[in-house]
Amino acid sequence: MTAIDYEARIPNNVDLASDKRLQRALEKWQPAFLDWWGAMGPEGFQGRDVFLRTAVSAHADGWAVFDYVKMPDYRWGIFLSDRVPDRKIAFGDHAGLPAWQEVPGEYRNMLQRLIVTQADTEPASVEQQRYLGQTAPSLYDLRNLFQVNVEEGRHLWAMVYLLQAYFGRTGHEEADALLVRRSGDADHPRILDAFNQKCPDWLTFFCFTTFTDRDGKYQLGALAESGFDPLARTCRFMLTEEAHHLFVGEKGVQRVLTRSAELTALDPNGDARNQGGIDLDTIQKYVNYWFSYSLDLFGGEISSNAADFFASGLKGRWKEESKYEDHICTDAVQMVPVYRDGRLVEEAVPLRNAMNEVLRQEYADDCDKVVGRWNRALESAGSSFRIKLPSTRFHRRQGIYADQAYSPDGEPISSELFEANRSRWLPTDADRAYVASLMTRGVYEPGKVAHWISPPDKGIDGRPAEFEYVRLT
Ligand SMILES: [Fe+2]
Ligand SMILES: [Fe+2]
Repeated sequence: MTAIDYEARIPNNVDLASDKRLQRALEKWQPAFLDWWGAMGPEGFQGRDVFLRTAVSAHADGWAVFDYVKMPDYRWGIFLSDRVPDRKIAFGDHAGLPAWQEVPGEYRNMLQRLIVTQADTEPASVEQQRYLGQTAPSLYDLRNLFQVNVEEGRHLWAMVYLLQAYFGRTGHEEADALLVRRSGDADHPRILDAFNQKCPDWLTFFCFTTFTDRDGKYQLGALAESGFDPLARTCRFMLTEEAHHLFVGEKGVQRVLTRSAELTALDPNGDARNQGGIDLDTIQKYVNYWFSYSLDLFGGEISSNAADFFASGLKGRWKEESKYEDHICTDAVQMVPVYRDGRLVEEAVPLRNAMNEVLRQEYADDCDKVVGRWNRALESAGSSFRIKLPSTRFHRRQGIYADQAYSPDGEPISSELFEANRSRWLPTDADRAYVASLMTRGVYEPGKVAHWISPPDKGIDGRPAEFEYVRLT
């Protein structure tokens, strides 16, 4: 295991210095990345000291240090988890053979597509969150936003390293293209739909980091099982960073819920909006929206691509190696509810073709646990309101449920009935405008928080909540 070299222009633990060609390629890409960060990264605050964590080791214990850093000086670099000696491919048609240290020729295109698709999400989310610093509910939240942003930038580096180190000319072209596409751009959009949606307010940000970053967790988890060892090691370290993003999302929504419950109780008519807060119904609608958008990211329920990814050993299931017995999956089936002749019927799908759905269900179960914790917080705040995760069929735009309308409970309904209820189930323009109206300016005094959210129950890295997480003077 090579220690992290922080003296190098590009911090790394892959012994970059010994590969001059790759080093030159990455050093050429670095200024383009910094230009992109300057143009599309957080608006404002770039000259400010932010209390950020930086990776200093690829080991799970004590891997990061916290200190004030100006974002453009963040040490973006290339960090892979330790190599597992004699690692074998754990699943698919090549199970038991040694893991690949080079790209297997027959899977080159497929593998590159997997990496580019993952890579594209990383800069996209930074672009989506670009203006949120202007309206941060506290310095603590401002710091968390920037932590997420710099680490998504780091994840882009992680993927660009793979493209440049292992995919030759096309890899270099793809690395450049990652800095050309833009979230929401009509001509050069990001690849996946959820990453072209707007993220204009903090309730959206917290839902995004809960549900969309959590999709990232499951995609990275599936790729961490990959038979292509450099990808597996890259993703394993990314997962370490990702945990904080999920924390930011979950606790963010939880603090909004707690505050909304308080303000609802305070109001004579039980209307949180009258008290300058966000009503719980609106939060439920945001949850419905971002959960359903994030479900689409897993791909079709019945998918020959998914079967190919699994058969080739490139993308496994969540915890493939430790959780499952059968890693070949040619005889097994997965029951999938399919809409036929006006009703849902369970259909047996060959398991390999259902791998997207298997991963999506893992994800949905995890989201359910998050909602459970939110509901316990609501209970503690004395509220009888409960957040409910909609069915995985609700409001889908991709996969087998996209052509038929479903209620939040997952029952097939007419599109007229869906439209009649749209404003009850999903955020309306008026809801979005109301939420945005609460967030017209940032709250930048240490220890203060905006009216519509509860303070955090503790600070970062043992610091108190009122710590000066971003120095604005
Ligand atoms: Fe990421
Ligand atoms: Fe993330």
